[in-house]
Amino acid sequence: MSKEETKKDDPVIAATKPCLSKLQEGKRYMWCTCGRSKKQPFCDGSHAGTPFKPLMFVAEKTEEVLLCACKQTRSGPYCDGAHNNLQDTYEEASAEEISAMSNAKLIERDGGKAVLDGGAYVLTPDATHDEHKGTLSWQTLIGAKDGAKHLSLLRFHAEPGTSPWRRQDDSDAVLFIVSGTGRISIEDQSFDVGPETGLFVAAGEAFCIHADMPITIMAAICPETGQVSWPERPDGNFDTNFAERRVGVDHDKAEVMADRFFQILVDEQIGSKEVTQFIGEVPLSRAAFHRHLYEEAIVILSGEGMMWTETCRAPVKVGDIIFLSRRQGHSLECTDPKGLRLMGAFYPAGSPAINY
Ligand code: FES
Repeated sequence: MSKEETKKDDPVIAATKPCLSKLQEGKRYMWCTCGRSKKQPFCDGSHAGTPFKPLMFVAEKTEEVLLCACKQTRSGPYCDGAHNNLQDTYEEASAEEISAMSNAKLIERDGGKAVLDGGAYVLTPDATHDEHKGTLSWQTLIGAKDGAKHLSLLRFHAEPGTSPWRRQDDSDAVLFIVSGTGRISIEDQSFDVGPETGLFVAAGEAFCIHADMPITIMAAICPETGQVSWPERPDGNFDTNFAERRVGVDHDKAEVMADRFFQILVDEQIGSKEVTQFIGEVPLSRAAFHRHLYEEAIVILSGEGMMWTETCRAPVKVGDIIFLSRRQGHSLECTDPKGLRLMGAFYPAGSPAINY
């Protein structure tokens, strides 16, 4: 819908990206719903003579937020990612953007890691594991030492058999099964798992892995405190408010975002208030440069492509992981005709469609 086609009863698309706004706790704001204000995203009175009225809200805390400027959100005043669906295709990098970034430096790997702008990086993990206990071994792929402030990503490998019980005392663990099958017990509850299953373990709950075959798991731990204990047995401390902890891929639940899709796996519906985990598929394309307000870990499940930041780029392929700090500008290009499949986990929780 162009501005020329806008009728009096339609909101104007003031911008196709949300406005980054810093709110102050307790302050009252008037969000423009008509899209006609010259002071986006706030009202300047231009709605006069239209059926629209501004939306008043009071900030609950001092924070940076993304307020909707396309006026298509269903979560006003906040962006819900609706701007991605204004056209039939996801916003791709423009010719000008591609030209401006044509000198981006190809970063060589050092120990499997290519460090991009702002501490973002692409890592090809090696097969070794730093730590072992019983049938379980693990390696930290993203952590505080890498510049992550809240999120960490651990790769667990479980040999066939039953692992020791592991408890993250103060941190939630959001698990994603990359390969293998078996069961994961969370305290006294057990869940069958297989490839592309997401699972939530709340802080203070112990879990153990019963592997039918070798299982590889990516675990986003948040906040990263390093506080881990190994109880002899579970103490029955399962949070029954969230009885179902497992989510599998279900195309009927996928959100379509123009010509790509994503499905939320783990989120607050199954108890995860800090971290959101999703799975997505990207067609042969290069996304327009954008940012998120969250810290993010991405695991490439299939396909290959290129990760671009302001002045750097690094190729990515299946098995690689990507770390993006909060507000780091980036663009993921898929160079694989079969598309690129990925798992993402980010803090704070929200929608992966929200970008600016
Ligand atoms: S100017 Fe848009 S609601 Fe007031």
